[in-house]
Amino acid sequence: MPTRFTILCENTVGHPFRVIGEHGFACYIETDRGRYLFDTGQGFGILQNAMALGADLAAVDAVMLSHGHYDHVGGLPDVLRVRGPVDVHAHPEIFIPRYWSDGRTRRFIGIPHRREYLEALGARFRFSAEMTEVGPGLHLTGEVPRRTDFERGDPHLIACPAGADQSEPDPIRDDISLAVETDRGLVLVLGCAHSGMVNIIEHVLARSGRDRLHAVIGGTHLGFADDAQFEATIAAIDRYGIERLGVSHCTGQANAARLHARLGDRFFFGCVGAVLEV
Ligand SMILES: [Fe+2]
Ligand SMILES: [Fe+2]
Repeated sequence: MPTRFTILCENTVGHPFRVIGEHGFACYIETDRGRYLFDTGQGFGILQNAMALGADLAAVDAVMLSHGHYDHVGGLPDVLRVRGPVDVHAHPEIFIPRYWSDGRTRRFIGIPHRREYLEALGARFRFSAEMTEVGPGLHLTGEVPRRTDFERGDPHLIACPAGADQSEPDPIRDDISLAVETDRGLVLVLGCAHSGMVNIIEHVLARSGRDRLHAVIGGTHLGFADDAQFEATIAAIDRYGIERLGVSHCTGQANAARLHARLGDRFFFGCVGAVLEV
């Protein structure tokens, strides 16, 4: 059986029937060893889109959360109501209160539900900052070392680990991604790539002992990149032999279009309904 990745939640829709777009991300993964859900969107589209796209959320073996932002975790209660008790893998810092701020106003963008509520609905949190095997051939990256000089954090993102009146820049240490072994090599699924897409790729390659990836899908955060980061990322895509790039969410439409122009057939839009079968 091929490994199949289906985008369930994303900002845009590429499927004609009964699905909805929302700012967020979720990806359903089917292998011959099991079914998995990586992120849950904000909570508007996950159930409807899963039904329309044939994703059996009631049968997932595990749920993974890429980081503690509302647009990746907000749909978790809906998933738990359908699935019942299930392991939910994440970094230990996902529940830190966090905000988007322009210096004058701020908006809460952390997880909109309390941990206890999610646990009452059946979430069995499995926290780890280390690389973790969540199923056969599926590895969560754990915390990603920030090594490149061209991938910098977003100054609008702040965290309040010590209380709402004490804010600091949010390094989003909890940003983790998923590497899946397939017949054609590794497929990397990104949530929002706050750690930097190239940092994540190089971390996965170093830990797996490989020198190339088959595909990368998900949120690249390139929508916030300057030209230097954009070009360095394209160079890495070539250097690591990436044959398919399916971008979503925080890539932004302008940079998605630029990537399409540069990569041609290797590129696809990772919108709701997009499927990568390997
Ligand atoms: Fe995020
Ligand atoms: Fe996001």
